[in-house]
Amino acid sequence: MVTAFVNGQYLPLAEARVSPMDRGFLFGDGAYEVIPVYSRRPFRVDEHITRLASTLAAMRLNNPHTAQAWKAIIGEIVARNPWEDQSVYLQVTRGADSKRNHAFPGPEVQPTVFLMSEPLVTPGAEQLARGVAAVSAADIRWLRCDLKTVSMLANCLLRQHAIDNGCAETVLFRDSFLTEGAASSIFVCKDGVLLVPPKSHLMLPGITYDVVLELARSRGMRHEVREVLEAEVRSADELWMTSSTKEVLPITTLDGRPVGSGEPGPMGRQMYAWYQDFKLTVMRNG
Ligand code: PDD
Repeated sequence: MVTAFVNGQYLPLAEARVSPMDRGFLFGDGAYEVIPVYSRRPFRVDEHITRLASTLAAMRLNNPHTAQAWKAIIGEIVARNPWEDQSVYLQVTRGADSKRNHAFPGPEVQPTVFLMSEPLVTPGAEQLARGVAAVSAADIRWLRCDLKTVSMLANCLLRQHAIDNGCAETVLFRDSFLTEGAASSIFVCKDGVLLVPPKSHLMLPGITYDVVLELARSRGMRHEVREVLEAEVRSADELWMTSSTKEVLPITTLDGRPVGSGEPGPMGRQMYAWYQDFKLTVMRNG
């Protein structure tokens, strides 16, 4: 049985209810986070809570909980669910008004807070050894991709485009520049240098993106944070997708053509090893 949290109450997920008038349902008017949990320790939880706060502030939605209260709720969800490694999903919407109106409701309407957890499924040995296939597409999303909102239709269409083509991810280009993946950040390796676009309103500030760059910096992998041309992606030696659930996963074909040698490369293997090592350190030392 999965335990969920809805507006102050812990209950079985199957019994969790929100109103069909909820603005998350009617308008996609909400924020979310996905937090990986290893050995019952939430990974980078402060950073996830900070990013949630930024999304809520940009949405002009009052944060219903302090960072400390969020941590307590997340901790409780982790404790009440059966798995050692979990993926905690957290969502805040602008709540349920009595009528449908695009404009914000009055202060009497409270935000809806929902959390649940799922077993964390990270890429298996086979996927890591072979890498995954990706397709590319034009980035058709809006100009606030830095916000982690539940208005996700474009992301869903773009991820489904990958699935329809037997692929794991869609790599997005806007005006011939790399932005990110449908649900991941994308890193490029070329001539021994790791390349990634700088954070902007065109991409999500990934928590894993930050960890990867910190590891590149601290362990001495050459890297450049700068705009990356579509042509550079197409002539890359290695491509990786990164996210809280995929960690660091090599992309070995793009639009049916091999990336570099067509096999996972040495820089990706190195970063994967550093990432696992960092995770273990965090789990041991908090
Ligand atoms: N998605 N870019 C997009 C569009 C994403 O949806 C995600 C994560 C990322 C990577 O962010 P992070 O490293 O913080 O997980 C980048 C989550 C996992 C999801 O929607 O399930």
